[in-house]
Amino acid sequence: MLGLQPKKVLEFMRKKLTIANWKQNTSQKEATSILMQLTDLQNNSSKSEIIIAAPYTHLHLLDEFNFKKASQDCSIYNGGAYTGEISAAMLADVGVKYAIIGHSERRQYFSENSQILKVKIKNCLQNNITPIYCVGETLEQRESNQTFKIIERQLKEVLFDFDISQDLILAYEPVWAIGTGKTASAEQANNVHIFIRQILATFLNKNFAEKVPILYGGSIKADNAQGLFSQSDIDGGLVGGASLIAVDFYKISQSFS
Ligand code: PGA
Repeated sequence: MLGLQPKKVLEFMRKKLTIANWKQNTSQKEATSILMQLTDLQNNSSKSEIIIAAPYTHLHLLDEFNFKKASQDCSIYNGGAYTGEISAAMLADVGVKYAIIGHSERRQYFSENSQILKVKIKNCLQNNITPIYCVGETLEQRESNQTFKIIERQLKEVLFDFDISQDLILAYEPVWAIGTGKTASAEQANNVHIFIRQILATFLNKNFAEKVPILYGGSIKADNAQGLFSQSDIDGGLVGGASLIAVDFYKISQSFS
């Protein structure tokens, strides 16, 4: 479909990533307990790189642990009189290396559109924060056969003005699968991942399209991760609910062959 090489003959291996998205959950005590359990379970070896997207108030907890630090958002503003906002520069200042941008909950509950998301991505890149840009269709859009059209639009409107040789992670998160217990089948998800690479290769840069990690998100659990991660174009997961249970998240992070 793509004209891209299948994974096994690629000269490089794409990075394997497991990202916890804690959302607006956990007390400091609970968060520390998850991190301690994960550290014990990991015992210095892991089949994927683990990134924790903690609430702003918990980011400092990650300093004591060996996981990469991510935020779940950043402000559209770079600084100044914007009460309640946290800028990308402030996040970089406390060691944040990654930021989730365009999560469907932000699009849905906080009316974040492509224009806003584009600015947020620019702010991240200017502060050496790797954006984890999320795309995904709603159930209605899937059922009316608009999945590919929506994904293409979400990619084009937000990413295509950037010098995309910069670091980026993509996450395909079908809205109907987030927090619902319904997972896309491994094949359904992989088809969208292949499509994403095709769009990036056609309109941006073929080399980048082959190398960019594309994660799946939406009700990943310890018992379905392996099927998803064994697909040719799925490089890991963005995990919500199951990332709050250390043993489950650990199992997911180990579900790579
Ligand atoms: P979920 O959330 O794993 O609870 O479905 C995923 C996400 O929202 O990133």
